[in-house]
Amino acid sequence: MSPQLTRVALLGPPGAGKGTQAKRIVAETGLTHLSTGDILRDEVGRGTELGQAARGFMDRGELVPDGLIVDMIGGRIGDARSGFLLDGFPRTVAQAEALDRISPLDVVINIDLPREEVIARLTARRVCENCGRIYNLAFQPPEDPSTCAACGGRLCQRDDDREDVISHRYDVYENQTAPLIEFYRGRELLQEADGRMGSDAVFERVLEILGT
Ligand code: AP5
Repeated sequence: MSPQLTRVALLGPPGAGKGTQAKRIVAETGLTHLSTGDILRDEVGRGTELGQAARGFMDRGELVPDGLIVDMIGGRIGDARSGFLLDGFPRTVAQAEALDRISPLDVVINIDLPREEVIARLTARRVCENCGRIYNLAFQPPEDPSTCAACGGRLCQRDDDREDVISHRYDVYENQTAPLIEFYRGRELLQEADGRMGSDAVFERVLEILGT
């Protein structure tokens, strides 16, 4: 990997494949994976104060307020001294400006996917409740649709993967997150990957961008 590209963010709509690619990228590069969605779901699961504050926003498919998110992720970014891969952050211009003050990015990889494809993918997504492995009943079906092939854990559907919530999440993405494409293009940090390609082809493109 290019030694210059150790502060990386994945951008893209819900279901574009950010989590799927992030797991492969960190296995290949050793970067620290920081997923705000995973951290928030863990907080919700443990019933922490932050989890209780975030839960309603997440269930409705809305963004958790910027202040809570920046406080949550800022320290973790500071701790990731050998580099980090952000997945799901930043998601608003205010978050991007806060990130600039904490640790400016080296590259932003935008994985794009149209709305119809997002809905098809997310209604069929299942996640292992034990190891977090991501499956898709339509595109990458596991042998047993209720059991993780890697660890035997139970495969579950996320609370926010109902069709009405997915559609609202896409609207929220278009209104609040998509402006970051021009924000980072203007800083000459933006690189593009076509999320409609298969997972292996997207991964190859990402490795090409990272010089790995
Ligand atoms: P978060 O968990 O970040 O959700 P998201 O951005 O909506 O993204 P997803 O996890 O749904 O999709 P993904 O792009 O990771 O796709 P995946 O790889 O799973 O956020 C959840 C909530 O938390 C937000 O709504 C908000 O409330 C809150 N939140 C989080 N961060 C926040 C922030 N910064 N600020 C404020 N609030 C925040 O893939 C999807 C499916 O497609 C899977 O089934 C997978 O197997 C399949 N798939 C993947 N790639 C391919 C491919 N190439 N071809 C075919 N199928 C594929």
